[in-house]
This record gives sequence, structure tokens and C-alpha cells, in this order.
Amino acid sequence: MRTVSGIKGFADIFPPESSRFTAIEAAAHQVFGRYGYVELRTPLVEHTELFCRTLGEETDVVQKEMYTFSDRKQRSLTLRPEATAGVVRAYIASGLHSRESVSKLFSLGPMFRYERPQKGRMRQFHQINCECVGAYAPQTDAEVISMLMAFLREIGIADASLQLNSLGCAACRPAYRALLAEYLRSLEASAFCEDCRRRMETNPLRVLDCKIAGCREHAGAAPRIMEHGCQDCREHFDCVLALLNALHVPFALNHRLVRGLDYYMRTTFEVLSGRIGAQASIAGGGRYDGLVASLGGPDLPGVGFACGMERLSLLMPAPKAQRLDFFLVCIAKEAHNIAFLLAEALRAQGLAGDMPHTGGSFKSQMRQADRSGARFCCVLGPDELEAGTVMLKNMDTGEQRSLPQADAATAIAREQN
Ligand code: HAM
Repeated sequence: MRTVSGIKGFADIFPPESSRFTAIEAAAHQVFGRYGYVELRTPLVEHTELFCRTLGEETDVVQKEMYTFSDRKQRSLTLRPEATAGVVRAYIASGLHSRESVSKLFSLGPMFRYERPQKGRMRQFHQINCECVGAYAPQTDAEVISMLMAFLREIGIADASLQLNSLGCAACRPAYRALLAEYLRSLEASAFCEDCRRRMETNPLRVLDCKIAGCREHAGAAPRIMEHGCQDCREHFDCVLALLNALHVPFALNHRLVRGLDYYMRTTFEVLSGRIGAQASIAGGGRYDGLVASLGGPDLPGVGFACGMERLSLLMPAPKAQRLDFFLVCIAKEAHNIAFLLAEALRAQGLAGDMPHTGGSFKSQMRQADRSGARFCCVLGPDELEAGTVMLKNMDTGEQRSLPQADAATAIAREQN
């Protein structure tokens, strides 16, 4: 019969990658917990309108990359392409703002974007997402960024570089936008790609970070946003930079860093790695002070980031494989039930172990014990069965001894250290 294949860009994640994912998730709980974050799980599917309104109609995500479908009542739904919009929707719906002045929420899970799959870029990928809603202070931006770098260090990524920009605010960005649009219009339009010719009118900032190098070069002398920000924005950003310097967090300023989603204002940042080819961005985020209000909530600010787990996994050192404590070898076929019950008794005492599920000769079972990498092999031969004992073989030293079955767990546990 013909086999059914998986969907392009949707991966099955086996060990060792799944172990890396587990290690990433454990580190997220640990590091973010230290900063007072709690976990929020939101649905994988939202009303399409949520993403159109928050990410921006002009963004690649909304225009080209969303998995959108109608449900049985013809409502337009979308598989979440990112987490922030859903987190903010949930934040407003739950009324969290009326109970806490600042909410720190982190989420993990799959996101969906219809992109061209390649190394580090999937159509179903996984993000670790943190949002701090309710605080304007530059200390909050510095805390979020410092926490991200601490998290990356915790999972063994110490060589990634941090880039920062400030996109101005509702007060100063419109004037900068108009200035930039005017400048771009003064350039030879045919040198820009089709997307940029459109963006020039709809969202000129996006021209600055076009994926096509020719467009970026053509706009190389464009006015820089940081030089046109208002006093408040400059002071806010200067304080973020001063705090990062005080924490010895290295960074570089990048005036082209406008990010691919429209909700950002003021601080934006990205963490890049030179070790994963074209998909250099391992994390990105920033401040989104108008987003909560734009979804019908109170006028509260927010700042956060997301990391791509597939990309983190490519950069992480291999996690230490977890070793089984025992592998049970049972020679007499008629004693398989006894072997099974002994294995369960050992697991009930906290040990990790396995036994051959397909039987086989003594030799083949010993080969399986070897391959399993277990620390001990427990042999149940005819003599052991008769005496109620087990032969315990230390697989590292080859040393073996016979002992009562009831003492096996203690003996294995004792030799653990
Ligand atoms: P983003 O830059 O679109 O931001 O995505 C964040 C991270 O997700 C990227 O740096 C990358 O590591 C990973 N990523 C994105 N697309 C893919 C893909 N197709 N395959 C694998 N990994 C991918 C956001 O999503 C914002 N919501 C972040 C944020 C949170 N801003 C504020 N709060």
C-alpha cells in the first residue's frame, strides 16, 4: 500500500533534537521563572482578523505566509504565525490588567508560516515567547534583553550577537515616516524590487530591511530613525543602552532593524548567529506600546521577544544522553512474566530500565543490553529463577554478582554515584 507522507516544512522531531527541545523548555521555565514569568498557553488557532489587525496588512507574514482556512460556519481562522497577538488577546480577555499592574507571561509551542523551507526555516516551527505587559520603563526593556541573553547562556549559546534599534513612538514616527518616504521617492524607483516600490507608500520603514541587498544599498543614505526620534524616545533608548552597558551585555546598534511585524515601537532587538547560514536570526523582539489598545484593551505598553527553537537547537551543544539504569535479560522463556514484574518493581523504585520485548537467545538479549547503554544488566537464568535471585552485571566494569531480587534496586541505586 502507498505510504502517506508528512507535509513539506512540518517535521517529526526525534531524539536527539527532541531532547534538545526538552532542555530548551526546562531552561526557559528555570530562567524566566527567576524573573517572575508564568506560563500561558493560548490556542494554536485564532480569528484571522487578530493577526491582520496586529501584525500589519503590509507584512510578509499577513500577505504571504498565513495558514488561513474557513471552519464549518465559514468563519476565517488562522494557525498562529506568532504568539504575541494571541497572548495580548488573552491578556485583555482575562482582565489581567485589572488585577496586576505588570504581567509577565511566557509561552512555548508551534507556530505556522508558509515560507520556503530550508535549514533553520520551517513551516511549522516552535517559539519560546516572553511578554511583559504594563511597564514603560527602560529598565523593563533592559531586563527583558538581559533575561534573553541569560537564557541563551543557560542553554550553551554564548557566541550570539545582539543588535538594537529604536523605532520612535506615536509622537515622532509619523514625521520620520514622511521624511523617509519623501527621500525614497526621490530615488530611482526601478532600482527597488516590486515589494519595496509598494512599501515606499504603505510602510516605508520596511524598505530599510528588505531581504534584497540591492534595495538596502539603494536606500543606504536614507535618514536614520534614531537621529529623528523625539526627546522622550532618545532618553528612553539611551537609558536602555546605558543599563546594558552596565550589565556588560555587548550589543551593536543597527538603524535598519525595523523587524518584520508592524506592532513595534521604540526599542527593537534581534539576536543573530553566524553559525546557521542564511537563517541568522535566533531571537527577535521589542516594545509594542500601542498593541493592547489597538485590540480594544486599556492603553498599556508591552515589550517581549521570541526565540526560534529549531534555530536554538542547531546551535546548542548535544545534551548528555540519559542512561538507563538497568536492562533485564531473561533466558528462560517461561519466566518472562517474572522478568516483567521485576522490571516494573525496579521502575517503581525510581530506576529507569527496559527488557527485550521480542525475546531472543541469551546472546541476542545481551547484545540488546549492550546497545541500550544501560549501567547494569540484570540476568534471570534458570539458577536465579530457582533461587529468587538476579545476576547483576556492571556493564562498565564487567564485574558481576548474584543477589536476592528484592535487593536489586538498592544495589543499582547505591552504585549510581
Ligand atoms: P519574529 O522575528 O517573527 O518575531 O520571530 C522570532 C523568531 O522565531 C525568529 O528570530 C526565528 O528564530 C524564529 N522563526 C521565525 N520564523 C521561523 C521559521 N519559519 N522557521 C523557524 N524559525 C522561525 C515574532 O514572532 C514576535 N512575535 C516576537 C515578539 C514577541 N516580539 C515581541 N514579543
